[in-house]
Amino acid sequence: MLVSAKEMLDKAKAGHYAVGQFNINNLEWTKCILQTAQELNSPVILGVSEGAGKYMTGFKTVTEMVKAMDEELGITVPVALHLDHGTYEGCYKCIKAGFSSIMFDGSHYPIEENIEKTKELVAVAHGLGLSIEAEVGAIGGEEDGVVGKGECADPDECKAIADLGVDMLAAGIGNIHGKYPDNWEGLSFETLDAIQQKTGEMPLVLHGGTGIPDDMIAKSIELGVSKINVNTECQLVFAEETRKYIEAGKDLEGKGFDPRKLLAPGCEAIKAKVKEKMELFGSVNKA
Ligand code: 13P
Repeated sequence: MLVSAKEMLDKAKAGHYAVGQFNINNLEWTKCILQTAQELNSPVILGVSEGAGKYMTGFKTVTEMVKAMDEELGITVPVALHLDHGTYEGCYKCIKAGFSSIMFDGSHYPIEENIEKTKELVAVAHGLGLSIEAEVGAIGGEEDGVVGKGECADPDECKAIADLGVDMLAAGIGNIHGKYPDNWEGLSFETLDAIQQKTGEMPLVLHGGTGIPDDMIAKSIELGVSKINVNTECQLVFAEETRKYIEAGKDLEGKGFDPRKLLAPGCEAIKAKVKEKMELFGSVNKA
């Protein structure tokens, strides 16, 4: 059964660990992430960007696939199906389609408009038992066409959004979607600390989890991060293992071209990556 992310994140905040959000792109991704979460007895959040939702033919398809897979695989750990960087319209579409959690990314609006729209969506989401994430201060880089400048969030604006009753808050602290450039200055722990001082018990979300060094992850969790999003890293390991399989000519041996064989090494790589992250975030055996 799909659940709201609220309870798992409140527990993570209190227990000083983080729950991973892993973005899904298709059936294989979903299956690998669910199986790994179950194997490690870890709560998990499946993230769906609007682009990935469209690719999978729509949010309804995604919801039906995830719900059925959760049931048929006998998954018992808490699973939230969460819209990633949702637009105002996208949030309503996911609510209608049966998601258990949404993110409204109003960070590109003036703060007053971000507050107004977030407030409305909090009431709608909570009325239906969904959890909701909001964003202040853009995450840098590009994800599925959503481009952010990467400025650090203003802690007072974070407090204003947190006070609306959102369940989790994404705040820019120098994090970037995709690979980090060589000249990246690292996360701004000063900003993160100031935000946590103002927002108290609010579970904070660290986007752009790909490529953040382990010690920075640990420090972020110490300073109140309870949800960490990972997308690109799973894509990179999947592509790498698939390339090796084809370059070794394995698709030409016997029935090596069968998609179930062709995609298997990439799938195993996703599972290993998700396991590595769950261990790093401390969510193992926290279901
Ligand atoms: P990465 O692709 O950098 O891991 O970021 C994922 C993310 O933040 C999803 O919102």
